[in-house]
Amino acid sequence: MHKVKLGVLVSGRGSNLQAIIDNIEKGLLPAEIVIVISDQPDAYSLERARKHNIPAIHISEKEYRGKRDDYDAVLVTEFQKKNVELVCLAGFMRIITPTLIKAYPNRILNIHPALLPAFPGLHVQKAALDHGVKFSGCTVHFVDEGMDTGPIIIQAVVPILDNDTVDSLSERILRQEHKIYSRAIKLYAEGRLKTDGRRVLVIGGKTIADEFLLNP
Ligand code: GAR
Repeated sequence: MHKVKLGVLVSGRGSNLQAIIDNIEKGLLPAEIVIVISDQPDAYSLERARKHNIPAIHISEKEYRGKRDDYDAVLVTEFQKKNVELVCLAGFMRIITPTLIKAYPNRILNIHPALLPAFPGLHVQKAALDHGVKFSGCTVHFVDEGMDTGPIIIQAVVPILDNDTVDSLSERILRQEHKIYSRAIKLYAEGRLKTDGRRVLVIGGKTIADEFLLNP
């Protein structure tokens, strides 16, 4: 089967990146990471990628302050050099611009640590706790021009416990993130995601709900 070429954007520790690498190496994901790009020089993600012989570069956000389009144009150039087919944001803490989105329409995924459309933005595990919701979770969605607003591909629900702290909740959500991001990439790689307005449908087989129940 064709391996979809991934370009992964990161800013930090890279546990989602690691989960994708591990699933590819286990043969569970028909994908290949052809480049990892960080906007932060000391992101541990870069080290993780290099340990697996994946090209990993830092493109400094400092040089592009106030010039987000120019920054994204550099990303597009780097991705095109590597024939990237799908862009994955994995803890990338920048807002991307139409320059990148237009180059990869419906071909950019993001993982977000809340059940969108609840709690978009930053520090969302704390926001969910402070609000007192009983369930939160995580979402993989296509990226559009809004902030965490694109069509939702897959979500996982995580209960909030009375004794949860931001750390304990974040950790439980993260474990689900590691599962659903690979699952979404796999469905994309298999050509099974069909977008119908805001809805993303799974074609040719089980629904997302079935897949989730079968692979908790
Ligand atoms: C993850 O929880 C991811 O969902 C979140 O940052 C963390 C990155 O962790 N992303 C966002 O909040 C995007 N707005 P990681 O570097 O260990 O994958």
